[in-house]
Amino acid sequence: MNTAEQPILLQGAMDVEIAYFLAKLRNKENIVSNNFSFWQGELSESKVVVSKTGIGTAMAAGATALGIELFHPRLIINQGTAGSYKKNLDYNDIIVGEKFFNGSAVLSGADGVNSFLALNSMEKETDFARLFRTAPQYLSSNPAALKAAQKAAARYKEGKVVTGVIASFDQWNKDVDKIRRFTEATDALCEEMETNGAGTIAISCGVPFLAVRVISNNNATGTSFKGETAINCQDFVEMVLAEL
Ligand code: 5AD
Repeated sequence: MNTAEQPILLQGAMDVEIAYFLAKLRNKENIVSNNFSFWQGELSESKVVVSKTGIGTAMAAGATALGIELFHPRLIINQGTAGSYKKNLDYNDIIVGEKFFNGSAVLSGADGVNSFLALNSMEKETDFARLFRTAPQYLSSNPAALKAAQKAAARYKEGKVVTGVIASFDQWNKDVDKIRRFTEATDALCEEMETNGAGTIAISCGVPFLAVRVISNNNATGTSFKGETAINCQDFVEMVLAEL
């Protein structure tokens, strides 16, 4: 059962993606476990735990499992920077991740054609058509948390707020042909490296999950990474907390 006594776990991969939270956290207490750092405290009337996950899907998954075990959160918000696949989504625009997926779960076909793997059904599935799919296996953010994020959008002044799909991999893609093929086969608006690792574990543990990203660079146009955009993502997440 979820109660207001349970904290909300706020995750970021890099220092710049948690620095604003840490600066605003009241009654801050640092807990280090298995080389992962967490900070308990209060933010915007909510009991929260800020978690530095480290970069990549494996770190995000590990930090999530540990964070659930240590703090029993009522909601996990994974947030941070992302690269845009769209010309009209750029610096400081926010993507509220209604859905997300593991972009690395692909079968590279002998004919050069890729299909998507449904990892969680591979063990028992015998029908190849259902294993090797034309669409990725999308996971979803929690509907109530998603609604709160959409309500908070009215207060965000640094850019647009768009609800859509986030692609996660341990990759940074600059090949425009690959991006074009990938966005034809999926609904991805942006790419990053943690959402799916964290979200897969949260959902498999039955913990509500919300994905939020800020555009920090554009893979489609090749613009460079701006770390400062991460501050606006944390500011937006604080607005989401007030709507929960
Ligand atoms: N591709 C992949 N990861 C990105 N990140 C920001 N932009 C991109 C991008 N275009 C984030 C990842 C990771 C760090 C390297 O920055 O989520 O944490």
